[in-house]
Amino acid sequence: MNTITVSAPGKLLLLGDHAVVYGKPCLVTAVSERLTVSLSPSHDNAMHFDTPGVSDTRFVAAAIEAAQGSWGNRLPPVLVATKSGFSGNYGLGSSAAVTVATLYAIAEYIGRKVTPGELFRLSRNAILAVQKVGSGFDAASAIWGGTVWYEHLGRTITPAASDHMPLIVGFTGVKADTAAIVADVAKKYAAQTERVTRIFDAIADLVMGAREKMAEGDWERVGKLMDFNQEYLRDLGVSSEKLESLIVAAKGAGAWGAKLSGAGGGDCMIAVAPKEKRGQIEKAIEAAGGQVIHITPNAPGVRREP
Ligand code: MEV
Repeated sequence: MNTITVSAPGKLLLLGDHAVVYGKPCLVTAVSERLTVSLSPSHDNAMHFDTPGVSDTRFVAAAIEAAQGSWGNRLPPVLVATKSGFSGNYGLGSSAAVTVATLYAIAEYIGRKVTPGELFRLSRNAILAVQKVGSGFDAASAIWGGTVWYEHLGRTITPAASDHMPLIVGFTGVKADTAAIVADVAKKYAAQTERVTRIFDAIADLVMGAREKMAEGDWERVGKLMDFNQEYLRDLGVSSEKLESLIVAAKGAGAWGAKLSGAGGGDCMIAVAPKEKRGQIEKAIEAAGGQVIHITPNAPGVRREP
């Protein structure tokens, strides 16, 4: 058996963070930074893992378990080797990418045809087995790639038009604890269901508006909608001082709009901005203590590599 190599992209959540956990829609784009998983025959009859850049190997183990459970124990002992084009600290979805890539690599290795829908179901279950919480949007993004409209916890996954997305990304330097922040929001939801439901409904409305404006290429309006989205996220209590200072810096330097991306508390902020302002916005983010991450949105989904 030869080595099988598969890669899956990281992601950035554009709009709809947190509300998506409650079945509302979100828009997510796959990014050019990819995570690679290779499977090759084991030299001794045991499984081996060589997973630099993957902070939590439980996702690889959960993917193998999901594959063995669904497809019969057909995977012989292999060496699983990973390589990541991005830091697991950025919040770009390395856990989902490694889960999806491992499952797809196993399918290729054992010669099993797998549809995107089946791959999604298995990946989502494997991620949930480890993480306990999460909407599954990150697995969908890693599988389908491009920019995706994700709703009803994965019952609706459709491509969204988003050409020439003028995205700027700033890393806060802080790794967010997604599970803890999602649990905090769940507590708020339980304590103030009506108020939080109103916030999620309002977020759903603006995500819908953003899909339309993205398709029209009206990025100025998308920026405004990102600003509104950020206000609701702030209201939910998931922003942080560092995120706010990078957002203020980006807007002060001419961004159309900016918000946190993902769970909040840290990770990355995103902004959309006119091309001619890009340089000064990046400088402003760095002056505010952020690290600009150069990515290209709308990257292809999971794929076999030569
Ligand atoms: C985290 O990247 C995004 C959240 O919406 C959680 C999820 O959808 O799994 C906060």
